[in-house]
Amino acid sequence: MKNRICVAVVGSGYVGLVAAACFAEIGHLVICVDNDESKVASLRDGGVPIHEEYLRELLDRHRPGSITFTSDLRAATREADAIFIAVGTPQSGTGSADLSYVDAVASEIARSIDRYKVIVEKSTVPVYTNEWIRRVIERNGVPRELFDVASNPEFLREGTAVVDFLHTDRIVVGTDSVRAAALMDTIYEPLTSGSYYENENSVPGHRTAASSPPIVHVSTKAAELIKHASNAFLAVKISFINVVANICEAVGADVKQVAHGIGMDDRIGPKFLQAGIGYGGSCFPKDVAAFRYVAEQCGISFGLLSEVEKINVEQKRRFFQKVRSALWTFRGKKLGVLGLAFKGGTDDIRDSPAIEIVQLLLREGCSIDAFDPAAMERTAEIIPASDSIHYVDDAYAAAQGKDALLILTDWQEFAELDLERLHQSLRYPIVIDGRNLYSPEHLRERGFTYLSVGRQDALASPGTPASSQNGFGQEAGILMLRRAHEA
Ligand code: UDX
Ligand code: UDX
Repeated sequence: MKNRICVAVVGSGYVGLVAAACFAEIGHLVICVDNDESKVASLRDGGVPIHEEYLRELLDRHRPGSITFTSDLRAATREADAIFIAVGTPQSGTGSADLSYVDAVASEIARSIDRYKVIVEKSTVPVYTNEWIRRVIERNGVPRELFDVASNPEFLREGTAVVDFLHTDRIVVGTDSVRAAALMDTIYEPLTSGSYYENENSVPGHRTAASSPPIVHVSTKAAELIKHASNAFLAVKISFINVVANICEAVGADVKQVAHGIGMDDRIGPKFLQAGIGYGGSCFPKDVAAFRYVAEQCGISFGLLSEVEKINVEQKRRFFQKVRSALWTFRGKKLGVLGLAFKGGTDDIRDSPAIEIVQLLLREGCSIDAFDPAAMERTAEIIPASDSIHYVDDAYAAAQGKDALLILTDWQEFAELDLERLHQSLRYPIVIDGRNLYSPEHLRERGFTYLSVGRQDALASPGTPASSQNGFGQEAGILMLRRAHEA
């Protein structure tokens, strides 16, 4: 390749590893650095530590030729022209981002700079972090002309991160240096020129050679703000539609119809208008808090974001109450749970609303059989299997003999269940869906009592056949619902 750049990516987590695999995919030489020796060893041996579509294929394609793995940050810094920092930036006690990993990595990088390098911040960080990185490197005695700092925020959604990287809406580069901007242009040139999409093995997506992504050059501060503001805005959209969903429930409208109608307005757009059990994950909760903190530090009140957080907490509580209203009492109830990850397509359970709800149900004395296509191993590390919770092999095993089935994560396969088999498996055919994967009418016709978010409860009609495994079938569910409403 003409302009092959040696890129180091520090942090082989959900963001760093995907970025590294994609840099190799677009033709660069990549060194992945992580201070977790066991992770490095596993990656060297062909392991893939996270569940992410296309990641295994890309790593297999480029390992070991174009991607190498090491824990030696100094050696990687000496080799690389650009060093991307993608270590975690967790939430600290005050809500602000904890930048101690970024600080430590910047100091370490500084100790091995012997020729011009661009240090690129890829983790989500508050405004002014670039400036801090610059100061840390200067304090370690590196002459100013030997390095520049840039901000290149990621907009990757877990589960679709590879496609989001290679078929991005835009590439944002924040730097105040022409030289650094030129290097970033070269790194992303295969995408911006469209040449990557002409390759017959390229990962499919909506971008083509004729509609390649733009690169947007802004100041470092603007880039940092773009990232925080994007995530905060998306969280606003979700909390907004969740409140609209609650109004829909109160007046008897369907939030999916309302969201569809709103989203058709170009100025609003259809995405991130899915009502549910609230947002989770490693980004939105901490980024909303961190952005609010940034505003506070500037003397600006961003009460809107506090409200967004409050709505998000309330949304989980409402769903929990919905489950209570369907079951009447919790103690001794047997429940099937579908989904533990914070969203479909990933094994990540950080700040997962599903986990929170499972923990509440266990505390109330329910017993649970849970299934998730990718996140059970990670969940078992924090909620070990016990008499109260078992991890099972599929959705039907989770439903077997249960008083109700809860859908907590939007995995595609949960939207395609064999409803007849599900009906036969459940003790009572009650489905409580926190992700609105089914049409209430469709489930009612198939004999289920179906509760979802922002839509009317569908109560199985007494005329439909009862579950083959119990004497009372749907009527029991209706009875329970009535009792709950009367209570
Ligand atoms: C990222 C971003 O960096 C964060 O800012 C963004 O908001 C969310 O996603 P993520 O990739 O999800 O973090 O984090 P994680 O999966 O925890 O990966 C971080 C990696 O960095 C880990 O493999 C960890 O071992 C490594 N690390 C951490 C280092 O190599 N050095 C350190 O000093 C700290
Ligand atoms: C997010 C951002 O989308 C991405 O650009 C950023 O860089 C990293 O953070 P991610 O956290 O992986 O990505 O997932 P995302 O798809 O944004 O979902 C976040 C949470 O919001 C999930 O819990 C999801 O279930 C929820 N969500 C999303 C909704 O409740 N409704 C929606 O309409 C969309």
